[in-house]
Amino acid sequence: MTTIEDRFRLPCGVSLKNRIAKAAMTEHQADADLLPNDRHVTLYKRWAEGGAGLLITGNVIVDRRHLEHPGNIAISSKPGDPTLKWFRALAQAMQTGGCRAIAQLSHAGRQTPKVVNPAPLAPSGIKVALPGEQFGQPRSMTSAQIDDMMGRFVQAAHVCSEAGFNGVQIHAAHGYLLSSFISPLTNKRSDRYGGRLENRARPLLHICERIRAELPEDFILSVKLNSSDFQKGGLTTEESLQIIEWLEDRGVDLLEISGGSYEQPAMMDLEGMEKRYEEGKAESTKKREAYFLEFARAVRERSAIPLMVTGGFRTAEGMNEALNTDACDVIGLARPLCVMPDAPHKIIDGEIAELPSYDKTLALGPGLFGPRSPIKFLKALNGFAIMAFFYENIDRLANDLEPQTEMGLLGAFLKGQRRMAKKARNLN
Ligand SMILES: Cc1cc2nc3c(=O)[nH]c(=O)nc-3n(C[C@H](O)[C@H](O)[C@H](O)COP(=O)(O)O)c2cc1C
Repeated sequence: MTTIEDRFRLPCGVSLKNRIAKAAMTEHQADADLLPNDRHVTLYKRWAEGGAGLLITGNVIVDRRHLEHPGNIAISSKPGDPTLKWFRALAQAMQTGGCRAIAQLSHAGRQTPKVVNPAPLAPSGIKVALPGEQFGQPRSMTSAQIDDMMGRFVQAAHVCSEAGFNGVQIHAAHGYLLSSFISPLTNKRSDRYGGRLENRARPLLHICERIRAELPEDFILSVKLNSSDFQKGGLTTEESLQIIEWLEDRGVDLLEISGGSYEQPAMMDLEGMEKRYEEGKAESTKKREAYFLEFARAVRERSAIPLMVTGGFRTAEGMNEALNTDACDVIGLARPLCVMPDAPHKIIDGEIAELPSYDKTLALGPGLFGPRSPIKFLKALNGFAIMAFFYENIDRLANDLEPQTEMGLLGAFLKGQRRMAKKARNLN
């Protein structure tokens, strides 16, 4: 019987001390130099002391013109660069207590906010279809630009290795650049990077091949991939399963499955949130736990790749059941760790049976104003305002403050917007 407290050995030989991983959460803590700083160190030391076996950073961007937020960490250093000391400090903080440290490498592509880049690079010139004009008109990449981008991912992995990280996770989910190459909705190319699935997956597969070939054998190579785009005409689950087989062939050590994009944020299950809000704490809470588990079981039938499932895990029972029925190997947790950074310790020690999630909170209310609102603007505003609650608490943890569980979400949203505008001004 496998439980959350059991060790797990990855194919590259590195062991995790337990089965709980902190999934990537973008921190928005970097200053205009886009480097890790003391706040990152404080934040990750707290999370490492919180008991997870693995910590994955939020988006670490491989091209500073394509940040997901002006407060992202970006890697533009070369191995041997003096700025590496900050990456080293971060990796060390993450490894407190024998925890393993992975940097999530990303390029925001068409989801780069306009304040960072009004004309970001993307597979095709298809703009993010969200109200509010937050994103600019993307430019279709030339093949030289694609080569340059793939090289940046590999270069960033070298930098992370030199800085002492145990590995990297290539972010190929949630609509960012690599995921937008994979999705037929956002990739309309007719060259060797468009059309057939193997063409759309080519940048991701090429990056994985090079990292596996060039980095040390015990360097963890992880990928975060969408199980589906949850949009008509988008990536299908069958296509995702095929990509997973290819990733297994390329020696990926840990596949994390998620889903969706800014336009359809399935990874947050906001609609499930509204249902739970309406039903109170009914039996359905348990049924909705871990919304990508069904897909995980389909992966198991096709591939032996080590599997991490993230999204919705909230009870010890739900996590142990997923491990024990061999649906996955590692449990990813995100939002609960913003309000309780030592939740892994508490749930492994049996001090608590259920994690605090605060994900039943709605920004504006249910119905017309809720996450299922037919009015696109209100639906989007709800999503961004709910996220603001978690960003605000990450900011509190990074500043060595205690989390705050009661806050006006619209106020938090506006505060976040002001912080983003200020950081964007400092960037330029
Ligand atoms: C504040 C916040 C920031 C996030 N940033 C990232 C990110 O940088 N990269 C990523 O892959 N996922 C990111 N996510 C998604 C989480 O990794 C995770 O997939 C999602 O929150 C579902 O897991 P949960 O139900 O345990 O929160 C973020 C989520 C939150 C709440």
